[in-house]
Amino acid sequence: MGFSEQSILVTGGAGFIGTHTAVQLLDQGFRVTIIDNLDNSVAAAVDRVRELVGPVLSKKLEFHLGDLRNKEDLEKLFSKSKFDAVIHFAGLKAVGESMAHPFRYFDNNLIGSINLYQVMAKYNCKKLVFSSSATVYGQPDKIPCVEDFQPMAMNPYGRTKLFLEEIARDIQRADSEWRMIMLRYFNPVGAHESGKLGENPKGIPNNLMPYIHQVAVGRLPHLNVYGHDYPTPDGSAIRDYIHVMDLADGHIAALKKLFMTENIGWATYNLGTGSGTSVLEMVAAFEKASGKKIPVQLCPRRPGDATAVYAATEKAEKELGWKAKYGIQEMCRDQWNWASQNPMGYESQP
Ligand code: NAD
Ligand code: UFG
Repeated sequence: MGFSEQSILVTGGAGFIGTHTAVQLLDQGFRVTIIDNLDNSVAAAVDRVRELVGPVLSKKLEFHLGDLRNKEDLEKLFSKSKFDAVIHFAGLKAVGESMAHPFRYFDNNLIGSINLYQVMAKYNCKKLVFSSSATVYGQPDKIPCVEDFQPMAMNPYGRTKLFLEEIARDIQRADSEWRMIMLRYFNPVGAHESGKLGENPKGIPNNLMPYIHQVAVGRLPHLNVYGHDYPTPDGSAIRDYIHVMDLADGHIAALKKLFMTENIGWATYNLGTGSGTSVLEMVAAFEKASGKKIPVQLCPRRPGDATAVYAATEKAEKELGWKAKYGIQEMCRDQWNWASQNPMGYESQP
């Protein structure tokens, strides 16, 4: 099956996961239109996508500055172009910020997504891949996390993901023409192997790997390790880190599934590796890959953090034909490649 004529709208496509996915989509022959309000990203990231895919494939990439909360921005796009499917990344994702400013999250993530789905329905574009999160497993009683566990929310950010999964399901129940895949990402890290694309958070990073990146290049003095008394072998918490390029490929697999499966309806899939790594193991792997010492300070647990979370991967493997290829070594190698070439992110001078 050729995909050269399929046109994909990528919301939030200037962001961390969106840029890596855009590169893989273009490489596979899809046409890509990005809509992003650059709230947590910069236009230079889209320029890097163009640089990476080259001048010929770049002609299949369009960027539109726009906000999903403004329906007119979406109307403008959909009235001019026909999209075969939407990959919906756009959203706010900082757990702590969501606890301090829940309205910001309800407004951006819920209203933005509902606007998007209304406009998609109006223009008869009814294939959706949605960025959900392992956050919907909360503090799991059992691991690995299996897709049919009862989902729950631990904070307003997680609640938006949970509600958006359910809102999508209601839309599909009401109109069976919709085909919807909810991808539950575990912990995306690493960067494009070229070192030209990577995670570029604004302000002090919340997440482990961008924080380590900033310590490695001297922007921050040390890493705070949140929790050293968890019931794990080294006392630090365990997560399922997944290389962002594997994650990007998971979106291509999901899209192909949508195009090929008439009766898919609404489905959820984990995107993870199925193995857990502790914070201290991650620090050691990064030190090995980079040759840099990462000073750590052992701190109390971060409120709301789970002890150990990792994915059951069988469903994605069986039904999407997708499996993560990369391990912790490659994640740290590519994270360091990005960090060393771009110590200040996209604002770095060559
Ligand atoms: P990101 O912040 O790098 O990318 C999100 C992009 O969406 C940004 O470029 C931002 O400017 C844009 N955006 C936000 N609100 C918008 C709006 N109203 N209109 C238009 N654009 C808007 O984040 P990411 O890590 O690439 O995450 C992408 C998606 O995956 C998010 O929905 C996030 O919740 C989800 N997710 C991320 C992680 C993670 O750890 N990175 C884990 C699970 C799920
Ligand atoms: N950690 C530290 N120090 C830091 C940052 C993180 O020790 O400076 C620890 C955390 O306590 C946790 C682990 O590193 O044990 C991973 O933390 P992250 O913040 O990188 O990731 P989380 O697992 O907390 O959450 C991430 C995303 C959420 C998403 C969740 C689902 O941030 O949006 O994965 O998998 F919902």
